[in-house]
Amino acid sequence: MTKIIKLDRENPDVNLIDEAAKILLDGGLVAFPTETVYGIGANSLNPDAVKKIFIAKGRPQDNPLILHIAKFEDLYRYVKSVPKNAVIMMENFWPGPLTMIFEKSDIVPSINTAGMNTVAIRMPSNIIAHTLIERAGIPVSAPSANLSGKPSPTEASHVINDLNGRVDMIIDGGKCDVGVESTVVDMTGEVPTILRPGGITKEMIIKAIGSVKVDPIVYKKPPNGLKPKAPGMKYKHYSPDAEVYIVKGNLHDVTKKIQELTEFQLNKGKKVGIMATEQTCKKYQKGEVIVVGDRERPETIAKNLFNVLREFDKKGVDVVYSEGFGYDEIGLAIMNRLEKAAGYKEIILKE
Ligand code: TXA
Ligand code: MG
Repeated sequence: MTKIIKLDRENPDVNLIDEAAKILLDGGLVAFPTETVYGIGANSLNPDAVKKIFIAKGRPQDNPLILHIAKFEDLYRYVKSVPKNAVIMMENFWPGPLTMIFEKSDIVPSINTAGMNTVAIRMPSNIIAHTLIERAGIPVSAPSANLSGKPSPTEASHVINDLNGRVDMIIDGGKCDVGVESTVVDMTGEVPTILRPGGITKEMIIKAIGSVKVDPIVYKKPPNGLKPKAPGMKYKHYSPDAEVYIVKGNLHDVTKKIQELTEFQLNKGKKVGIMATEQTCKKYQKGEVIVVGDRERPETIAKNLFNVLREFDKKGVDVVYSEGFGYDEIGLAIMNRLEKAAGYKEIILKE
């Protein structure tokens, strides 16, 4: 049985949070909102509890988890050393949508890290998440609260859809602000490396510490047999049931091409979804058109992306055409998730 509770995201009822904290301390699973996406949490220090996460999600055991903490000093318990750059990153971006990878200390049970000698740590800013971790007084291992392979959940209804009956409690704290998962940065090398782009952008990190590398896997399909540094990046992910195609090029040509392709698919008897923006939605007369956000405010696109992918599934479309977006700032995270959702299927128009 899954207990579902609703909490005010600004001023959550601490008695209810304590009930959730008790479930964690008793070895149970609690799904909770963070500023990025919903997570499914367990006590990191209890291997049997952590194991339940993998079972509930259907997650491969070789994909390590992020430990969520509420206090800066806790970082030093779970890692061997904290490089200078990491301190600057912490001061600038924690609490917030940033995960850093360190060499792990011996206290961290290896089920969290899939046997690797590194551990991913993040301090969420969402008040419900932060209070829950603080009140429980333990680190909380939490992957995104979707069934493995599905788009990450950005509202409680998505979690209920995927995990009802598989966890002890789901906390409904409304819509997530960022909408894509945290930026994962490997701090163990000489120059930090972004393994997964997110709300803390490459540009923001460069401003804080001077330089950062981006793992090539962020931009392109992992070659067969390659073992990416973030194991999660190799899995089919974010995939709706429909076939997704991204159409890239000058926006005017893109909208024209999407209209042609839609017409073509409709004639074949297919149901077509179009992922449009405020700026372009009026151009599409046919197909199921959903506005993902405003091109002038790309953070709106990040916030709605996963929900729109789930909406297309609900409508039962066979094919989705999405416009492409830029790769700068939050665009890097948007395009990384969209390209994975599309299985890297793109139609590139000549300028
Ligand atoms: O925003 C987020 O990060 C959300 C919320 C719930 O906090 N969590 C999340 O967790 O997205 P998950 O498990 O869905 O994604 C974690 C990613 C995976 O790609 C995993 O392979 C990578 O981080 N990762 C975890 N530990 C790692 C490690 N030690 N080395 C390299 N990659 C690691
Ligand atoms: Mg995930």
